[in-house]
Parts: sequence; C-alpha cells; structure tokens
Amino acid sequence: MTYPFPTSAFIGGAWFESARTFPVVNPASGVLIAEVSDLGGDETEAAIRAAEAAFPAWSGHLAKERAAIVRRWGDLLIKHAEDLAQLITAEGGKPLAEARGEVAYAASFCEWFSEEAKRAYGRTIPTTVAHRRYVTIKQPIGVAAAITPWNFPLGMVTRKAAPALAAGCTLVLKPAEATPLTALFAAKLAAEAGLPPGVLNVVTSNNAAVVGKVLCESTIVRKLSFTGSTRVGKILAAQCAGTVKRLSLELGGNAPFIVFEDADLDKAAAAIVSGKFRNAGQVCVATNRVLVHAKAHDALAQKLAIGVSALKVGDGAEEGVQVGPLIQKAAVERVDRLVKAALASGAKALTGAAPSPVGEQFYAPTVLSGVTPEMDIAQQEIFGPVATLIPFGSDDEAVRIANATPYGLAAYFFTNDISRAWRVAEKLDYGMVSVNEGVMSNEVTPFGGMKESGVGREGGAEGLDEFLEVKFINFGGIG
Ligand code: SIN
Repeated sequence: MTYPFPTSAFIGGAWFESARTFPVVNPASGVLIAEVSDLGGDETEAAIRAAEAAFPAWSGHLAKERAAIVRRWGDLLIKHAEDLAQLITAEGGKPLAEARGEVAYAASFCEWFSEEAKRAYGRTIPTTVAHRRYVTIKQPIGVAAAITPWNFPLGMVTRKAAPALAAGCTLVLKPAEATPLTALFAAKLAAEAGLPPGVLNVVTSNNAAVVGKVLCESTIVRKLSFTGSTRVGKILAAQCAGTVKRLSLELGGNAPFIVFEDADLDKAAAAIVSGKFRNAGQVCVATNRVLVHAKAHDALAQKLAIGVSALKVGDGAEEGVQVGPLIQKAAVERVDRLVKAALASGAKALTGAAPSPVGEQFYAPTVLSGVTPEMDIAQQEIFGPVATLIPFGSDDEAVRIANATPYGLAAYFFTNDISRAWRVAEKLDYGMVSVNEGVMSNEVTPFGGMKESGVGREGGAEGLDEFLEVKFINFGGIG
C-alpha cells in the first residue's frame, strides 16, 4: 500500500530531507513502511530559529484569523480521515476502528481550540488605589516545543499543536520515532490549511535524547509540552530548569478501577474490557489495577474472563480485530516478565498470561486474579493488555490502595450510591476521575495528572492557558 505521506522533516515551511534516515516499521508485520529523515541537534536549532522568525507575524494575527486556519486544519484531518487512520494503524498498530476514532478525536482539538482562542479574555480587577486601574491581558508565550508519543500519533499532536497555534505560539514538534509519519502527514495538511511557513516545524529523529536536550536548553523555546513516561519527563524537566521554561507534562499512570459491591457488574466488566484493552493497553489512562469488593470479586472475575478471552487479536488493519500488537518486542517481554512474576508470587491466570501465537509482538489479552498491591504488576504501569484483580473489604481500604502510588492520572469507579460517588471522587488523588464509565477523554475537559503523573492540563479551557502568559497592566495617574 502507498500512503500519501511525506517522509522528510518540515522546517520553515519546506520539506527537509537529511542524508541519514531511520526505519519506520509496522509493529504487526515487521514490514518496513518508510525510511524517515533522521535529524540531529543542528537541524533542531534550525527548526527553533524558523519558529522564532515566524512568531512576530503569527502572534500578530487576529485570534479569529489564526482560529480559521486551525479549524481548517481539523476539517482537512477529517477529509483525509481514512488515509490517516490507515497510517496510524500501520505505524502504531492499533485496530482501524480505534484509529478512525483517533482522527475524529484529533480533529476535535482543532475545532475546540479554534473556538477557545477567540475567548482568551483578560480581566479588569477592582482597584486598591483611587488613581489606578488594573487589567490583565493574555498573550502567547512565544516559541513552544512539543514532544509527542507513539500511542496516539495524531491525537497528541493536535492536543498540543492546536492550542499552541490558536494561542499565537509557533511550534517545534518532535514526534515519536516509532510513529513520525502520521505527524508529517498532519503537518502537510496544516500547510494546506494555510498555516504560514515556520509556524509548525516537525523534527523527525531517531535520537530523542539529543533533540529533547536542544529543545529543553534553548533560550528561544519558552514552553515544553511532553507526553510520555515519568522517567523521561523528569529528565526533560531537569533540562528545562536552566531556562525556567513553562512545562506541561503528561506522564505515566497507574489507574485504579474500583468496583464497589453495589455496582452493575455487567456494565463494570464491559467498561473494563473496552477501556483497558484499547490500543492493547498502551494508554496512559488505561486501567492498571481493578480493585473489586470481596463480595463482587468472583462474579466480576468470571465476566471479565469471558469478555477478555473473546477479544480478537491480530493485525489492526484486519476487519474485526480488537487487540493489535505492542509497539516493540521489548514491550512484549516486559509485560510477560510482570505477568510471570505475579504468577510466581501467587496470582492466578483466568485467561491469557503468555505472548500470543499471532505474532512476535502480540500478547494474549490477560486477566489475573489474586494480585496484591505490593506486586510489581500493581506498582508499575503495565502498558499492555493485562487486567489485574485486587480484592478489598471497605471503601476506605479501596481508596487507600488506589492512592498508594506515586502516580495520579486517571481513576475509575463503579457504584450506584450517589453519596459514595461524591465521597470517593473527592478522596481519589487523581487528576481525572470517571464514575460509572471506563473512558472519559474528550476535547472540552482538562486532561492531566497529579503527583508524578505530570503538571498542567491539556484540552478544555485550561489547555489554551498552557500556551498563554498573563500580563498585569497598571494604569496610573487617573484623576
Ligand atoms: C494518552 O494515553 O496519553 C492519551 C489517552 C487519551 O487521550 O485518552
């Protein structure tokens, strides 16, 4: 299959082909999709300078002029939805139905932020001195950098780029080395939408550490937005300290999914299966631990085992496939190590618990019961298609186990008791809590975590503010 995508980097409105390339491989088949330009530090500096040169004109546009271009970008994503979805599946592995959903999700950020940018209001503040008047205005922060992950190669690009561009920032984007083609295709469509040269630059590279360091240490770049692991987020934050950059970090998670004894178990099981196993569990907000009341444990375990063992595993491009490959072979080995260690410590496999015979990079959808909060599989982010069941006896115990992690991204729980719903939602140390639903991401609400899951929020009104400075202006001498 040939895709209408570029394979060169995009700097200052021109395609930049480097002598060095790196391979992008389909994780389902191992087949080479394309060789992509492999940039280093100097080219990253060039992209930063291109963004700097474009900033005065772009930030000088009226908000509604920028909004119209960002909105058109979203419309073009939708127009090319099928090509984009095929590309997302080819390089990232997720099933086509999910990839199509991701394109719509990505376009929704263009629509939302094109509207929000027109409402980047300041405030008038009642004065404290008779001859003064106080106002605040919001202004674009300047040149921004975005480092995006492979698990949502389009959604995470627009969740960062749409607010940055709509706010009046210019951007240097470094997409994940496993999935740069979707980002390049998106950049091509942004140019078609009318985005001026230099406003969005895409640096493709197999050397994330070098590019990341240049972006972090640059005195021109005023803001970094990163989605990825907590380990890398900490490195980037330390590198940004020298220039006191504004940071948005969407990092790892260890989402609890609490099922109380009064919950609708059919609905809870269905929500765990759809939320946990999307993108083969390679989602920061995916359930990592199912905490289930002892009275509901056996019934839920049975429903989960039936639902999970029925999932169709295979190449995401094939019709009906629900669970695709993991992004690398090393990820399969890591997931298998966690599962084997849990089994050796007393957990029980209800289904799966081994690499899938479908192919090298596939892991069988798995349910483990008898997991304890101390096991590595409950402490670490699994990032694979494995659900773990941990029993509890009281609300307090469930909340205590749920919060006993350095992470604080997303939490889920099922109950039919409204009082318990409020009480537990308030007690969970998580940036996002979903009651009686297993998926909650959308463009209009703030996405982000507490503790070591990150800082800042994406989406919602908050997502635009991440790219804006608040300036206080004092008017004196009024008499
Ligand atoms: C992520 O895994 O980082 C994004 C998930 C989402 O937006 O739902």
